[in-house]
Amino acid sequence: MSQISAQQITTLGHKHLGSGLARMTELVMESGQGSYLSTNQGDFLDFTSGIGVTNLGHCHPTVTAHVIDQIKSITHAQCTLGYCRPYVELVHKLLPMMPSPALDTILFFNSGSEAIDNAIKVVRKSTGRQNLICMQGGFHGRTYGSASLSKSKTVYSHEVGPSLTGVFTTSIPYWHQMGVASDHSEEDLVEKTLYDLDHLFLQQCAPADTAAIFIEPVIGEGGYIPIPAAFLRGLRERCDRHGILLVVDEIQSGFGRTGAMFAIEHSGVAPDVITFAKGIANGLPLSGMAAHSSIMNKMGKGMQGGTYSGNAVACAAGLGVTKVFKEENILANVNLRSKELFDTLHALQASDEGKKLIADVRGLGLMVGIEFKSSKLAVPADKHVDFEGVGAKIHKKCLEKGLFILTTSIYDVIRFIPPLNITREDMAKGLGIFEQAFYETAKDYRCLLRELENLQGHLAIAATAELFATFVKRLDAHSAFGDLEVLCRAYTSEMQIQAFNNEQYIPATAPMVQSIKYNGLVFISGCISLDLSTGGIAKGGIAEHGVAALDLLKDALERAGTSPSKVLKVTCFFNCHLSEIGPFNEVYAAFFARYNHKPCRTGVQVAGLPVIDGVQALIEIESLRPTNEDDRAWSKEEDNLLLKLVAEFGSERGKQSNWPVIASYFPKRTMKNCRKRYFYTLDTSIVHGKWSREEDEKLLSLVERYGCKWKEISGEMKGRTDDQCSSRFLNCLQCKNTPWTAEEDATLLNLFEIEGPMWAKISMSIPGRSALNCRNRYRKFGGMHTSNRSSTSRSRQRKSSSACSDSLAESTDASPGGSSVQQGGASDISTFNSLVTRMFPQVAPEDAFSTLVMMQLHAIPSHPQRSEALPLELEGHQHLDLDLDVDLPQPSASHSIPDLQSIFPL
Ligand SMILES: Cc1ncc(COP(=O)(O)O)c(C=O)c1O
Repeated sequence: MSQISAQQITTLGHKHLGSGLARMTELVMESGQGSYLSTNQGDFLDFTSGIGVTNLGHCHPTVTAHVIDQIKSITHAQCTLGYCRPYVELVHKLLPMMPSPALDTILFFNSGSEAIDNAIKVVRKSTGRQNLICMQGGFHGRTYGSASLSKSKTVYSHEVGPSLTGVFTTSIPYWHQMGVASDHSEEDLVEKTLYDLDHLFLQQCAPADTAAIFIEPVIGEGGYIPIPAAFLRGLRERCDRHGILLVVDEIQSGFGRTGAMFAIEHSGVAPDVITFAKGIANGLPLSGMAAHSSIMNKMGKGMQGGTYSGNAVACAAGLGVTKVFKEENILANVNLRSKELFDTLHALQASDEGKKLIADVRGLGLMVGIEFKSSKLAVPADKHVDFEGVGAKIHKKCLEKGLFILTTSIYDVIRFIPPLNITREDMAKGLGIFEQAFYETAKDYRCLLRELENLQGHLAIAATAELFATFVKRLDAHSAFGDLEVLCRAYTSEMQIQAFNNEQYIPATAPMVQSIKYNGLVFISGCISLDLSTGGIAKGGIAEHGVAALDLLKDALERAGTSPSKVLKVTCFFNCHLSEIGPFNEVYAAFFARYNHKPCRTGVQVAGLPVIDGVQALIEIESLRPTNEDDRAWSKEEDNLLLKLVAEFGSERGKQSNWPVIASYFPKRTMKNCRKRYFYTLDTSIVHGKWSREEDEKLLSLVERYGCKWKEISGEMKGRTDDQCSSRFLNCLQCKNTPWTAEEDATLLNLFEIEGPMWAKISMSIPGRSALNCRNRYRKFGGMHTSNRSSTSRSRQRKSSSACSDSLAESTDASPGGSSVQQGGASDISTFNSLVTRMFPQVAPEDAFSTLVMMQLHAIPSHPQRSEALPLELEGHQHLDLDLDVDLPQPSASHSIPDLQSIFPL
């Protein structure tokens, strides 16, 4: 027969079939036999029965024989031309099977929806009433009439309205829909739902206007929910009372699916109308409705029917089905296999894993659902995440292992609809696969839940639900737990305790460390006023002690990978009377002003602080600060995920950039962070390190050609990013290669006092000096009072200074001017001292250094006029530079801080 390849089928189908058709897989179904379905990718045990259609298995020989015989005799005996033999024979066979003898008149159609549409017409016509009541969560088809009664998912009516008018919905006794626990009393649920229906009658839908109530005795698409007999009886009673017709839709639950020929039989309730389809012809398109003649025969001639309705071949298949039911005792098999199915699912539910994950096992016969505890409804409405719960994951695993199975409803439900004649062995095999998939998923979830429990227990932010939604979203996107674990780890790494210590300050043998990072916070131990260069308590008064303690605090924060910039809280312990801490406050204010920041502060006077070599520390400072998200080291898994995402989304910048999407996969990292990690570390095509002379020359010529269009420029600079190019040009090539002048220094200091560390802004006022130059230059001054940092870090800085790093954050002194400043010595200090004393005659020469320190520390941006004196006075003085390695003179013991008020009049 046809011979286009499976691959072509997939391609054609993908391209030319309408998108309204949902598809679970891209498999090509080639053939089916009994409980097995053969596809282009192997055989599957079929627990779907083509959504409850091939109830006797694929290609049942008896049914097939009936079909072949019929095709040989007549295929299409149009039913309005006369009597179609198999049509009437099938009616004859079905009548005794009907759940009520009152259902004595039958018509056939092609699909379930068509049967429902016909039932709608019949009930309206026969009662002369318009209103129809259907069930919240029920499903009756996709044609306009049937879809108007379908309330299991909004997708069936979304944006195709208006639907039929006169349709009202009432609730079913289903715990999840009613927002109660799965073990809630059925009696109570029934009572409440019937109470709702009575309200519906009184408030919206007068019984006298109501033609019929439509219900599936086992809700199918809505979650495989058997409707309790008491509810069905309640409906029957109300229908009888008000002359309303009760229509049971057995399109999915009929023909032995639930262990009885029709599911309504379990309740003992007699319907007025029944619709059926699916199992009736084991795969050929046939549906029907049955009712009492007094109802059916109200229809005028020609109001029903259809070209193909009651097709001869389909009806012949139906005859084959009725024969098999009788000969093979199908209902007995359903009940035996049903027990095995329920036993297995109940055992799963009772397991440790099941208790955590399974909410409900329910159903009748071989129409069984298992509902999991993960629920779309748990995802906050404002989080637009594609939900994939436990059931969906098990479902995927089952497919991978060769079991075709279906999910159903808006809840997390897997439905079992195996063939009704499935063997014990095949049932055991299918359940084995399901169990395996369940335990595997449970294991994955155990890991996830453990991580979540950890998070829940530890995270300061109460956002577990949000995190969960985020995890689920990631999981969806990657359909692999590996990535989920990466993300979990990204969160939980925050939970690991990391200690940092400066052994110069706190020996390894001490019972404490300098700082601890945990849960997004850095805790700093008390920093006393210790001068690390001497190992003794700082000399001087409370201000000098303050400088030393703050220096130590800065050191501790830097060791923990942060800085004083975002310190949340500082606690100061003063070993002096609180009335004496004024000078400290000035030092303190200036210290944090450098970071444009004011933390919370507690200050207490204490009875004593550590004494070293007989000298009392006057102050101890401790603090608390959030960690720098950017500082966390990238794990291997994160790097791999980043590379994978870049491969998927590209590394483009600008308008086409997918970096926001990529960054969204790293909840604790910024977009800049991700980009930087990629371009600076992971992208092997990018050259790092020193720029060659040739590169510099090329860059200069490209800037001449393109101006500052860094994208264009980097396009021609092989291996260099636009950031690198701009940084190289702005921070190095464009910069002056000359030492800083006194005017420039003065402007720098002045602007810093006004602007704080806004280096880019400051650099705009100092032509030829980049932001980086300015910052490094400023540090030369600032370093004098703050720098007790190890000489190794300084030498490291100096060593790499000529490499001209590309970013401020990572940079060393990059400017050519910067590298020429390491030349000072004692003579520079004395030049400096004399300069200061000339500026401020009231300052004693030995106090010159500390005066400058105080000037630096005394940055009071709200009084810019204070700092104006400095650049004006410095004007005309020659450039002065200092080597930070110089042994600076210590202020004398009798040293006193000059009165700054007298120097800078307010
Ligand atoms: C209970 C019920 N009613 C009606 C229908 C609609 O049947 P069809 O898809 O044949 O139109 C279905 C289909 O699944 C069904 O389960």
